[in-house]
Amino acid sequence: MRRYAGVLALALVWIGTGAMVAVGQDRAPDPVAWAYGFVNSGPDPAAPPCAADTKPHDCSWPGRPWPDDGKLLRLPGSDQSFTIGQVQSFWAPADWYPNEHPPAPDIVKFGHEKDHLRACGHCHYFNGMGKPENAHLAGLPVNYILQQMDLFKTGGRKPADSRKANANEMTQIARFLTDEETKQAAEYYSTLKWRPWIKVIESATAPKTRQSPAGMFLPLDGGGTEPLGERIIEVPQDTDRTERLRDPHSGFVAYVPVGSVAKGKEIVTGGAGKTIPCITCHGDDLLGTGDIPPIAGRSASYTMRQLHNFQQGTRDNAMMKAVVKKLNTDDLISIVAYLASQ
Ligand code: HEC
Ligand code: HEC
Repeated sequence: MRRYAGVLALALVWIGTGAMVAVGQDRAPDPVAWAYGFVNSGPDPAAPPCAADTKPHDCSWPGRPWPDDGKLLRLPGSDQSFTIGQVQSFWAPADWYPNEHPPAPDIVKFGHEKDHLRACGHCHYFNGMGKPENAHLAGLPVNYILQQMDLFKTGGRKPADSRKANANEMTQIARFLTDEETKQAAEYYSTLKWRPWIKVIESATAPKTRQSPAGMFLPLDGGGTEPLGERIIEVPQDTDRTERLRDPHSGFVAYVPVGSVAKGKEIVTGGAGKTIPCITCHGDDLLGTGDIPPIAGRSASYTMRQLHNFQQGTRDNAMMKAVVKKLNTDDLISIVAYLASQ
């Protein structure tokens, strides 16, 4: 009888582990997956392997189809018109408002088609405002940009969630650029002006969303809301203008948990007994000091991703590693809610 009990116990352990593995690989809850563009932990959609000599775009997810019907598209306040193929082009993306920025260097305008290296302007826009799934570059200190490009190149900056293919692509881009191109792009983006672009709403619910192929959350066409819980959902103000038309004037809305902005303010300005106040290094206005970057008014998803990367050690910086050491996910969500609202 005893022997059977042992076998039975073993069988139960086996069944239990099997079930856990299946959940873990499929749809286990992951409190920070949203910052990387996913709903849960799990293997899909898997990023393809990205070896050191892989051409940048070959590290990314397959592009979405936007068949070019030749029809000319326009945006309010722009005297330009483009076909959908031109808007979505990797190697010469549409520049909707060319009068709003200085002439861009070739690498920002065209990338290199031969290396499958997409133009910086395709992802970060010509005005450097970028989107939650990539990064805003406008007005970052030039030395800071150069440091980051070096970190990407040397493996000091990677996404903690390796499914984030466009961050892997960014790593490869840094490796395929010449020093001169890197310098030109850094100088260009650092001269551009940052402007408010994210509206923060404290709410118990958020729009129901789907994931775009690039890793953005987009509201469902049919509408509807769902409980927000302990996460942030950041969506375009106008899905069509962001996703299809790549309108660099159309910003984002971040739904954050009720009470998170005030909680975040306490940590950011006073440390709340858990960390060094962020204003010590990032400045009273959080717009950066010297080569330390601005952190106010930036995408909540982007900022969360970076704080989590520092915590996991996939982004290498001793100062920021010490800053986030004792902060839990709830603290991080509150911090980024407050920062995005500034
Ligand atoms: C395929 C889209 C894509 C293209 C093209 C692209 N980037 Fe990026 N870039 C990203 C993503 C994604 C991130 C955010 C990575 C992360 O989450 O850490 C990023 C982040 C950055 C950052 C870090 C910003 C910060 O605040 O630390 C810099 C600097 C940057 N990119 C520069 C460039 C330059 C210069 C080019 C053109 C040579 C370029 N990128 C082209 C996707 C892209
Ligand atoms: C001791 C100085 C110091 C303090 C305090 C500090 N930071 Fe930083 N922070 C830095 C430095 C230096 C960098 C640039 C890191 C790098 O080069 O990768 C940075 C980078 C960042 C970045 C990345 C920005 C980007 O564009 O990717 C974020 C986000 C950030 N800090 C948030 C915070 C928050 C939130 C706090 C407070 C909880 C904070 N920092 C406190 C020094 C500090």
